[in-house]
Amino acid sequence: MNLSKEALATLASCMQTLEEGFEHLPATTAVLGSAGDEQALVAAAKRMHNNYPYQHPFYIGQMLKPPHPVAHLAYTMAMNLNPNNHALDGGRESSKMEKEAVADIAKMFGWDEFMGHLCGGGTMANFEALWVSRELAKESERRTVLASDQSHYTHSRLSQVLEIPLSSVATDDVGAMDVKALEQELEKGDIGLVVVTLGTTLAGSVDPLPEILELGKRYEFRVHVDTAYGGYFTLASNLDPYTRMAYDAIKQADSVVIDPHKHGLQPYGCGCVLFKDPSVGRIYKHDSPYTYFSSNDLHLGEISLECSRAGASAVALWTTMQAFPLSLDGEFAASLSQCRQAAMEFHYWLHESEYFTPLFGPQLDIVCWIVNSESASQASELSQKVFDEAFKRELHLAVASAPHSMCAALQCIEDWDQDHVIVLRACVMKPEHLEHMGLINIMLTEVVKDVLG
Ligand SMILES: Cc1ncc(COP(=O)(O)O)c(C=O)c1O
Repeated sequence: MNLSKEALATLASCMQTLEEGFEHLPATTAVLGSAGDEQALVAAAKRMHNNYPYQHPFYIGQMLKPPHPVAHLAYTMAMNLNPNNHALDGGRESSKMEKEAVADIAKMFGWDEFMGHLCGGGTMANFEALWVSRELAKESERRTVLASDQSHYTHSRLSQVLEIPLSSVATDDVGAMDVKALEQELEKGDIGLVVVTLGTTLAGSVDPLPEILELGKRYEFRVHVDTAYGGYFTLASNLDPYTRMAYDAIKQADSVVIDPHKHGLQPYGCGCVLFKDPSVGRIYKHDSPYTYFSSNDLHLGEISLECSRAGASAVALWTTMQAFPLSLDGEFAASLSQCRQAAMEFHYWLHESEYFTPLFGPQLDIVCWIVNSESASQASELSQKVFDEAFKRELHLAVASAPHSMCAALQCIEDWDQDHVIVLRACVMKPEHLEHMGLINIMLTEVVKDVLG
């Protein structure tokens, strides 16, 4: 379980510390029912049984990673006050903590000067980046956004909401943006923004940011890096050199999105958007008559689209980053390298296996593979069967659809009777996966043997 008895004792003691700050106020009693309505809580806990065990290494399916206990404790502690980081009136200290935490994230990418803040998640963060870009391009002809066909689907939906044209750029055989295809689109002349994904959702593929920036010298466009999933991997020590170059180039982008609620050990509701040019803050300007009375300092609501936001998110992130600073030689960086190591070991095992073939070597920690099959439809059917059979054994995988163009390595498939194949997919997001990989491999072998009869 995420919180041990010792952790709960620590929570009680830090709650006490929090209370001490308000002891001088007259005592009050809760008016609404009992604070410890055990019956309702037990009923809720029982309902939660109907979830996959996301916290366990046997859950290796989607992008789900439990928050670190320190984030969990800090969030719960802060909930006693339930601060709202929209304005300093609602979250005085938690707003400062947010600014400090966000500055550390910006520093991780090499930015000392920037404008940025936390928000609900990667969708909201990307929304702001696209919106700012649209506002900057208002006066020009360059309105179109380009994103690869493997970019997160949120970009096409957000472009619809923002009423900006979006064109899709083809990807290569490892799911990364094809630079030649990009240049063909740029030649059309109306491109305002290129979305570069460092860590695609399907397979963790990394778009060639250095080459894309190079094109920026010939064609004029903004670069937005969507590294909602992969951002923290910039701290990993075991990226391949090509991937490393892409991460090192992030500092040259115009805006960046990273999700602390994916690899940053945080509970959901924690995304982050950063802009290199702090002056884009002017675009957010509004004149609410009721929000900002308490101080002349910057209220985060002045530079974010969302209004109310959980201050507890900022407290949790700040506290986690005190415990696990974003340093290259720290424990947190090592934990990311472990995830990547586990993914690579899994890939090699699949590569050697007589039953499976991996799609390609992982650039981060996501692995996709199929059961060896002669046709795309048979492979798809077997992926689903392995998924179902593994589920029965409490091994939780994911399935996803990979286009034919990403399947060059699947030479066993002779008959492409459909233009895609359903693959098995694992997000190897927990450092604990490293020590459980052997067991997971054994379970997978048993599963596939059963499926193949
Ligand atoms: C690359 C990428 N961008 C954006 C998102 C959307 O983020 P969120 O689910 O936090 O809104 C995701 C989610 O998986 C993602 O992988």
